[in-house]
Amino acid sequence: MKPILVSGIQPSGKLHIGNYLGALKHFVDLQNSGDYRCYFFIADLHSITEPFDPTEKRAQVANLAADFLAAGLDPKKSVLFIQSCVPAHSELAWIFNTITPMGELERMTQYKDKSARQADHVNAGLFDYPVLMAADILIYGPQVVPVGDDQLQHLELTRTLARKFNGRFGETFAEPKGLLTATPRVMSLKDPAKKMSKSQPESCLFIDDEPEAIAAKIARAVTDSGTTIEYDPEKRPGLANLLEIYAALTHLPPKAVAAEFHDENYAALKKKLATLVAGHFAEFRARKQKLLAKPASVMKIFEAGSTQAAKVADAKIAEVKKKVGLAA
Ligand code: ADP
Ligand code: TRP
Repeated sequence: MKPILVSGIQPSGKLHIGNYLGALKHFVDLQNSGDYRCYFFIADLHSITEPFDPTEKRAQVANLAADFLAAGLDPKKSVLFIQSCVPAHSELAWIFNTITPMGELERMTQYKDKSARQADHVNAGLFDYPVLMAADILIYGPQVVPVGDDQLQHLELTRTLARKFNGRFGETFAEPKGLLTATPRVMSLKDPAKKMSKSQPESCLFIDDEPEAIAAKIARAVTDSGTTIEYDPEKRPGLANLLEIYAALTHLPPKAVAAEFHDENYAALKKKLATLVAGHFAEFRARKQKLLAKPASVMKIFEAGSTQAAKVADAKIAEVKKKVGLAA
């Protein structure tokens, strides 16, 4: 049997190039390697822990479903589904709640960041978010979980919960490993000390952006007052970030990209990067437009995937309930 792989993305806004290079592109490459049995899902339950509008939420789910397919995820090769359509995730999360120490959740960086950002909406779901994520993962028994590096702390908790559960109720869950890309942390175009994040849209290159918008954003990207082009993430993080994006899209090491631009200036690098990014996503944008024009057939794919995922998840939750003493 091939090793199992699970990951998800929240439907909470447009995807940026950090989500793409840190997660979605990696998902497609891993799927196409043929080395894994892949499960990819839309984490809609996680996304409602942040302020949202119910009508917009439906559209966000449909939009992310189109992103998945347009980027190359393929229902013939992967199980593609929607988290809330597989209720066993939530059931397992509840059981995991009862073995999760509050202290473990209190130290989560993402919880601290998000609760500072949404100070008037610090809900219990936001606090409990990593427990649901552990359930999402462990219910499929994966060996690997591809994510960006901001999710590694959640993955560590997932491993802790697997161990705790096994210790208390007997061997049930394997401990999965995180799988990072070469660009696990694309930085903000406005502030290279921070990661690119949907919560700061002006810092993002969105993968749906039209070529003009891409060129304008890259032209304004913060670099430094230097004149030469070299790869030095410590001293010249803004420039390094641009070189890393270029490198990821050309499959070259960032140092080789810097060498290629050795005799050129920032403006030339930015211009070529803008052309590269716009070109890279041209086909994606065209495919996505077509998919958005037939939302019912896109949703059908995810409904069928959800039925497939639920079979696996339901079997696991039945096993868990027995172990915990909730079922005979
Ligand atoms: P955001 O932080 O922009 O709200 P999400 O939390 O929805 O993004 O992340 C979706 C996936 O993209 C996760 O696997 C996450 O680790 C990855 N990711 C998010 N931001 C970045 C980034 N700047 N660089 C690389 N990967 C990222
Ligand atoms: N928390 C992840 C994020 O913000 C999304 C997510 C939810 C996830 N459940 C998951 C990722 C399970 C991997 C595995 O990006």
